Amino acid sequence: MCGIVGYIGKRDVAPLLLEGLQRLEYRGYDSAGVVISGRSGGLKAVKAKGRVRELEARIPKRFAGTTGIAHTRWATHGAPSDENAHPHLDTEGRVAVVHNGIVDNASELRAKLEADGVVFASETDTEVITHLVARSQAESLEEKVREALKVIEGTYGIAVMHADFPDRIVVARNGSPVVLGIGEKEMFVASDVAALISHTRQVVTLDDGEMATLKADDFRTCTTSGTRTTATPETVEWEAASYDMGGHDTYMHKEICEQPDAVDRVLRGRIDDKFSTVHLGGLNLDAREARGIRRVKILGCGTSYHAGLIGASLIEGLARIPADSEPASEFRYRNPVVDPDTLYVAVSQSGETYDVLAAVQELKRKGARVLGVVNVVGSAIARETDGGVYVHAGPEVCVVSTKCFTNTVVAFTLLALHLGRIRDLSVADGKRIIEGLRKLPAQIQEILAREEDIAKLAAEYADATSMMFIGRVRGYPVALEASLKLKEISYIHAEAYPASELKHGPLALIEPAMPTVAIVPDDSLLEKNRAAMEEVKARSGRILAVAHQEQAKADHTIVVPKNEDELDPILMGIPLQLVAYHTALALGRDIDKPRNLAKSVTVE
Ligand code: F6R
Repeated sequence: MCGIVGYIGKRDVAPLLLEGLQRLEYRGYDSAGVVISGRSGGLKAVKAKGRVRELEARIPKRFAGTTGIAHTRWATHGAPSDENAHPHLDTEGRVAVVHNGIVDNASELRAKLEADGVVFASETDTEVITHLVARSQAESLEEKVREALKVIEGTYGIAVMHADFPDRIVVARNGSPVVLGIGEKEMFVASDVAALISHTRQVVTLDDGEMATLKADDFRTCTTSGTRTTATPETVEWEAASYDMGGHDTYMHKEICEQPDAVDRVLRGRIDDKFSTVHLGGLNLDAREARGIRRVKILGCGTSYHAGLIGASLIEGLARIPADSEPASEFRYRNPVVDPDTLYVAVSQSGETYDVLAAVQELKRKGARVLGVVNVVGSAIARETDGGVYVHAGPEVCVVSTKCFTNTVVAFTLLALHLGRIRDLSVADGKRIIEGLRKLPAQIQEILAREEDIAKLAAEYADATSMMFIGRVRGYPVALEASLKLKEISYIHAEAYPASELKHGPLALIEPAMPTVAIVPDDSLLEKNRAAMEEVKARSGRILAVAHQEQAKADHTIVVPKNEDELDPILMGIPLQLVAYHTALALGRDIDKPRNLAKSVTVE
C-alpha cells in the first residue's frame, strides 16, 4: 500500500528519503517519487514507475536540498506510470503533494477544476488536492491545506510542500496513518514508523482529523478545523534492528523463526498462577461486565479473520460464550444488529486496515463495546477501541502474516482464559491451559528444527497447480490459513474446506494432480479425519498430513508435538507456514512482496 516519507532539517535530503522509501517497500507498491526544495529555490521532482532503485537511478547528480517528501504508490486511480506516481505538482510546479488514501469525490472536484481551466497531468485522485492547495488564496500553507481539505471527501494521509514556504512541510491525516519523528533540529514524517526508526524513536502519531506543520526545529499540531491540539511524543518500543532481515534471506523466514520468542513475549507478565488465570491490563472490562457478555463477535480481514475463527472457538470452548468471527469488510455492509450484550473484538496486525477500522467506527457509533486484538501499538484500531490485548509479535515486515497470526491466536487464548475464569472455567482447566501455553515456545522450536525435512516435502508438492486443504472444527481455520499462505506467496491455487464437506462437492476435484493437505490432530475427531483421508485416497489423491502421529492413509506426514486440544491449532499451523515458504522458494517467487498484495490495506 502507499507509503509516505518526509524530512526537514540540515542533512542532504534525497538519500534520507530514498532510505525511508526502501524501508516502506515491504508494504507493496508500483511506482515511487520524490520532491525536494532546491537550494536555489523552487521544487524539484523525480518519479518512476517500478521499484525505488529505478527512482534512484533517475535522480540527477545535482539534486541537493534539506527538505523533501517522497512516496511509494499502489495504484487505485490510474495505472502504474511515471505520470501517476506521486508527488503531484500543480501547473506552476510550486505545490507538491503526496497522498495515501482515496479522494471519494475526486471526479466531481476534477470536473470543477477543469471547467476553471486547470489542466491535469495525471489520472490520479490526489492531483485535485494539489490544485486546490495551489489555488487557495489563504495566507499560510497550513490555511491553504485546511481550505483544500474542507472540500475533500474520503481518506487521506498527506504531506504538502510549497515553494513559497520552503521552511515547512504540512501534513494531515484522515483514515490513513501519519507519524511524526522528532530529531535534533530535524523532523521526519512517515506513514509507518519503519521509515524513520533508524533516525529517531521519538514519535507523535496524528489522530484522524489532525494536521501538523513541521519546521526543522519545531512542530505544531491542530485539528483540520484549526483548533490547537497537544501532541506528546512517545518512544517506539522497537529498535531499528527489529526491522532488519537479521541474517535471514527473507523477512518471512525471519518472522517464522522468531515465533518462539514472539509467543514468549505475548505471555510475559500476564500469567497469574495463583488464580490460574491471566492479567490483561488494557482490557478495561471488569468482572461484572465480563459476566454480562452474552455473545462475542470477532471482526478482522484475511489472516486476522482466520485467527479470529480460532479465537471464537477458544472463547466458546473455554468461556462458554457463543462466539463467531466474520470478515469485517462484510459485516459493516450488511446492516448488522448491534446488540448491547455482545462484546465486539476487532483483530488486526497493522491496526490500520480500513475495513476493520470502519467496522469499529460503525459499532462505536451504535454504542457497542469494542475491544482490539492488535499488534501495532498506538495504531488507529488500537486507539479507537475501548480496550484490548496487544499481540506483541514485534514488527512484521513480510507482506504475508506468520508470527502475528500465531501471536494473535495466543492472545485470544489469554482472552478466553480470562473470560472463562471469571465465568465457569475450573481452576484445573485454567491450570491445564496455562501449562499448555508455557510449552508452546519450545514446541514451536521443535517444529522449526525440522525445517529441512519440511522443505524436502514442500519440493514434492511444488509441481501442483492446485491444492486442497481440509480440517475439521479446530482444524478448519488452520486449513483456511495454510491455504491462504500458500496461494499468496506461491500463486498455487488452493482451496480450504471442512473435511466433512468434501463429499458435498469438492470431492469432484480430487485426482492425482490435486494434492490434499489434511489437518489431523489426535482429538475426538481423529477417526472422522481418517475417514476423510480415505475418501481422498479412494480418488487417487495424494495426501500430506499434519498430525500428532504418522498417518497410514497419507503419502507423507509432518508430525507435530501434541499440546492441549485447544492449543493444537497453533502448532499445526507452523509447519504449513514452512511448506508455503519452501514451495514459493522452489518456484522462485518474490516471497516478501507477493504480486498484487500490500502489507496494510488502508483503503477499502
Ligand atoms: C495474509 C495477510 C492479510 C492480512 C489482512 C489484514 O498473509 O497478511 O490477509 O491479514 O490484510 O491485515 P491486518 O491484520 O493488518 O488488519
